[in-house]
Amino acid sequence: MSVIEKFRTMEYGPAPEDPKESMAWLERHGRRFGYFIGGTWKAPAEGKYFETSDPSTGEKLADVAQGSTADVVAAVKAARGALANWQKLTGHQRARYLYAMARQVQKHARRLAVLETLDNGKPIRESRDIDIPLVARHFYYHAGWAQILNQEFPGYAACGVIGQIIPWNFPLLMLAWKIAPALATGNTVVLKPAEYTPLTALAFAEICEEIGLPRGVVNIVTGDGATGEALVKHPGVDKIAFTGSTEVGRAIRRATANSRKRVSLELGGKSPYIVFEDADLDGAVEGLVDGIWFNQGQVCCAGSRLLMQESIAEKLTKKLQARMSTLRVGAPLDKAIDIGAIVARVQLERIERLVKQGVAEGATCWQPEVVLPSRGLYYKPTLLSNVHPASIVAQQEIFGPVLAAMTFRTPKEAVDLANNTVYGLAASVWSESVNVSLQVAAQLKAGVVWVNSTNLFDASCGFGGYRESGYGREGGREGLLEYLEPEWFRKAPALRAKPAGKNGKTEIANPTIDRTVKLYIGGKQVRPDSGYSIEVRGLKKELLGESPLGNRKDIRNAVEAARKAEAWGKTTTHNRAQVLYYVAENLSQRSKEIAERLSAAVGKKQAGEEVRASIERLFSYAGWADKFEGAVHNPPMRSIAIAMNEAVGTAGVICPTDMPLLGFFSLVLPLLCAGNTVVAVPSETYPLIAADLYQVFETSDLPGGAVNLVTGRASELLKVLAEHDDLDAIWCYGDAELCATAKALSVGNLKQVWTNERRALDFFDAQQGEGRWWLEHANQVKNIWVPYGE
Ligand code: NAI
Repeated sequence: MSVIEKFRTMEYGPAPEDPKESMAWLERHGRRFGYFIGGTWKAPAEGKYFETSDPSTGEKLADVAQGSTADVVAAVKAARGALANWQKLTGHQRARYLYAMARQVQKHARRLAVLETLDNGKPIRESRDIDIPLVARHFYYHAGWAQILNQEFPGYAACGVIGQIIPWNFPLLMLAWKIAPALATGNTVVLKPAEYTPLTALAFAEICEEIGLPRGVVNIVTGDGATGEALVKHPGVDKIAFTGSTEVGRAIRRATANSRKRVSLELGGKSPYIVFEDADLDGAVEGLVDGIWFNQGQVCCAGSRLLMQESIAEKLTKKLQARMSTLRVGAPLDKAIDIGAIVARVQLERIERLVKQGVAEGATCWQPEVVLPSRGLYYKPTLLSNVHPASIVAQQEIFGPVLAAMTFRTPKEAVDLANNTVYGLAASVWSESVNVSLQVAAQLKAGVVWVNSTNLFDASCGFGGYRESGYGREGGREGLLEYLEPEWFRKAPALRAKPAGKNGKTEIANPTIDRTVKLYIGGKQVRPDSGYSIEVRGLKKELLGESPLGNRKDIRNAVEAARKAEAWGKTTTHNRAQVLYYVAENLSQRSKEIAERLSAAVGKKQAGEEVRASIERLFSYAGWADKFEGAVHNPPMRSIAIAMNEAVGTAGVICPTDMPLLGFFSLVLPLLCAGNTVVAVPSETYPLIAADLYQVFETSDLPGGAVNLVTGRASELLKVLAEHDDLDAIWCYGDAELCATAKALSVGNLKQVWTNERRALDFFDAQQGEGRWWLEHANQVKNIWVPYGE
């Protein structure tokens, strides 16, 4: 027998990892776990437990407490109680605890990896070589941030008590992604692990004990969705950080709308994996093994849609099938296994159901001839070809080892297909041409793009979605901002309805000529669809003019115009700066007449100050336009990750009432500066400002549609804006009711929401009214990973 023949006929022998250490750990706990609250282990208030089992065998591993509302209340109380002392520590002291966590994770790495594999069903190779090392890296990285936090984030404070809810696909890693940045920034935490995989979180609680973490800083409450819901609804929680399904993400948004809780969501995906004809096809196939078969495809950013250039589709499919035939499915503790068990029966059934539906919709299903183990929850690696882009398997997250393949002809078609999804978490682009890959990467609507690679993660690089994949980032500098707030924002007083003109002496100028203003849509002055106008009165109730009463149709037209003007976001930052300077110049030329008119509504002093401060604000954002730049990360692998700031898209803005000019510019300018297009509802009490604004815009070079003005009743127009599915963001300045409406009604397409949280912000104060914090909300970060090296 030749060596080559021998090589080909060689079989893998079993190479099982010994689970005895992990089993001994379970035994030490009597295979029954309470919660970790206030630094001690507590039995559940209602005495209820549920089973967690090994999905590869069905064998029970332990009983775990089912958290009730009372348990959640106790945990939040402990976290609240620990907050002040945790915040009194120096950054260095907090850094020491995070460092100790990293060290303990490393010391117990093998036991944690085995425990993770037992509870989740993922191959030991993955938990040992990917999950756990990344967990340690996350704690090390954030130990560093804790140490330098005060230097890097002056004027910022921790949010407070954080409720964190995590899924089952990367149990300990998701815990690390959540806990490390929260603690580094001085928050305390109540974390609820997923019901299928609670064990490593409990093992982590033990690590907190071992390192002597102050009691109550980390609390772990196990349980199901009801426990999660109790945490979300608890009034003592300042922020919810969630990873999981888009459906639950929506429920969380709804449940928190009427509160000041901050929310960050990392949700589902249907990420494209695009292979161009000039790609290294063998590399692309190997990438797919990681892209869709890693963790049985139960990965939010899995490359689950394969988009192949037509000319290589056949060749690539053959190579792929050949590689799939060598994938080994089986006992996850076997070190030579590629695909382990599916986490739970409901998930397996969901995969089966979706694949059947895909086939019924015309897809061709191909699976290699692999023999699945006789017991446990397994699914074969699966390739669905000829998938129609509208098919359920091209649109819905399957969360299993199933790849849906389609073809394209041109790069434009590839981009269109890739973006044809409600999600926007990640994408892979394979091409040997740096032009093609980077050009396509720039056009993809996704928070992470991997060039000639896939599923690369590092603590230094922000991870998170666009669109219905959620918002907020985990990792990197931007990940910390999810757990921090500017002091001035936290301390701002409650917004009370105050009469316009409060900020100045009420000295009214001569009555101005009666005017009827129009709406401003797509760069044109237009009459309102309703045909109605409302009277606008000044400080002494005198008639100042009439302003159109915009309605649903006007908003729809304005959104359409704003969407069409999206080229604004693709102009160079230098161009955007020039346009903003030009608007400032035009405002300056008309400053006297605008101030005069405005003074009838807000008094002479405030009117003059608003105009002056608005000109300055325009200059500021013109200055920022080409300076709010991204970063280049150096993760510890042979890649760079280019973190680009990108516009969120098209935003609806409800402007403050009591500062008609400055309030408008303070909200609209950061959005424009970042390249967003805007539909704004100007001050409801002085909507006549719209005429002054569009006259200034018309004489500047602002492209038509970049800013659209629809006057009318803020509460009615907000509703239409919030529910509009073609808007990407909503910014709403108003009272408690407006803020809650903005949050609640924008749940449909999970728009990004900014509100003043019912606070009165002082836009005259440049520290508050402009700058980085606003631009951070107006942008979202896209990380483009590019491999390099010998
Ligand atoms: P899920 O979203 O229900 O579970 C995630 C976490 O949320 C768990 O800890 C769960 O207990 C908790 N939860 C459930 N309902 C809640 C509620 N009303 N309030 C607060 N917390 C709640 O996800 P599930 O049912 O386990 O999986 C269903 C599908 O979701 C998967 O097939 C997959 O498509 C997607 N998914 C996406 C993940 C991601 O990483 N983006 C992770 C897990 C699931």
